[in-house]
Amino acid sequence: MAEHAPTPAAPDPVLIAVCADPASDRELLKAAARLAVDLNLPFLEKPARTGWDALLTVTPDRLVLAILRGDAALKGGKPVSGDLSAIDIASSAGRSLDQPIAKAVGYKKRSEPSVVIDATAGWAEDSWLLAGLGCRVLGVERNKVVFTLARDSLLRAGAGNPDVLMRTHLIQADARHLLRRIARLNQNDGPSGPGGPGDDLPPSMQEFLRPDVVYLDPMFPSGRKTAERKPMKLLRKLVGDDGDAAELVEWALRVATKRVVVKRPPKAEPLASEPTMSFAGKGVRYDVYVIKARG
Ligand SMILES: C[S@@+](CC[C@H](N)C(=O)[O-])C[C@H]1O[C@@H](n2cnc3c(N)ncnc32)[C@H](O)[C@@H]1O
Repeated sequence: MAEHAPTPAAPDPVLIAVCADPASDRELLKAAARLAVDLNLPFLEKPARTGWDALLTVTPDRLVLAILRGDAALKGGKPVSGDLSAIDIASSAGRSLDQPIAKAVGYKKRSEPSVVIDATAGWAEDSWLLAGLGCRVLGVERNKVVFTLARDSLLRAGAGNPDVLMRTHLIQADARHLLRRIARLNQNDGPSGPGGPGDDLPPSMQEFLRPDVVYLDPMFPSGRKTAERKPMKLLRKLVGDDGDAAELVEWALRVATKRVVVKRPPKAEPLASEPTMSFAGKGVRYDVYVIKARG
């Protein structure tokens, strides 16, 4: 397996600047300046619509990204933000363990919550859905701006659902590197706890060192017949096509203790070998690789 394969470049670099709206609000302006420093992006004291491909704007109630030039389908209309409130985690259908994603992760009893690494968190919608069902989830997103937008929507949705928020962790990292680290820690397995392998990882990470499931939803191939929603189009513009997804599957297969789940378009080839089983969802297919006991 290629151990040091570089992260594939985004299709075209997107020039993003950070600002606040209204810029007269000193607190928002400070928050925007801090965010610009964290993300290593230019900070604009006054929003300027020229010179940038996109503006990441701190507003009183949410963080939004507006595309200013390029793709016509992205430029018009409202700027994009994460919106986990649109994910149904409350109705009986939304909470049902009979839905395809729950079956795919093999989550059967709420009293035995599955521990899931969502290695391609994106907008964190699947992370949130799985945590809403009762799973304990670590979402991993490698793109800094996508991660920041997802964390913002997670915190907003979490305000009304503190128990679900408690089960959802989101980090910014390349999951290939994280999974490789976990695989190595498990190889040199020693006593856990102080001084043991993984001791330097934050406590919230410890339970994910032996995840039941690694869940993957890399970008679907572009040019599909089904129209993409604007947030997904935006994701594609920022992150590209996830050309290294097959490598991610390989690491996932080495780390998951029970299953690897790969979300695919309904008619697409599997990303790895033939899956053990598949579940059809709405416009998607979940390929499941059941992990045989490791000797
Ligand atoms: C199709 S989106 C996932 C959407 C997500 N399932 C949701 O519910 O919002 C794919 C995301 O995976 C991220 N990604 C792809 N490869 C990754 C990797 N190796 N590590 C972390 N994130 C990755 C991309 O940056 C992109 O944001």
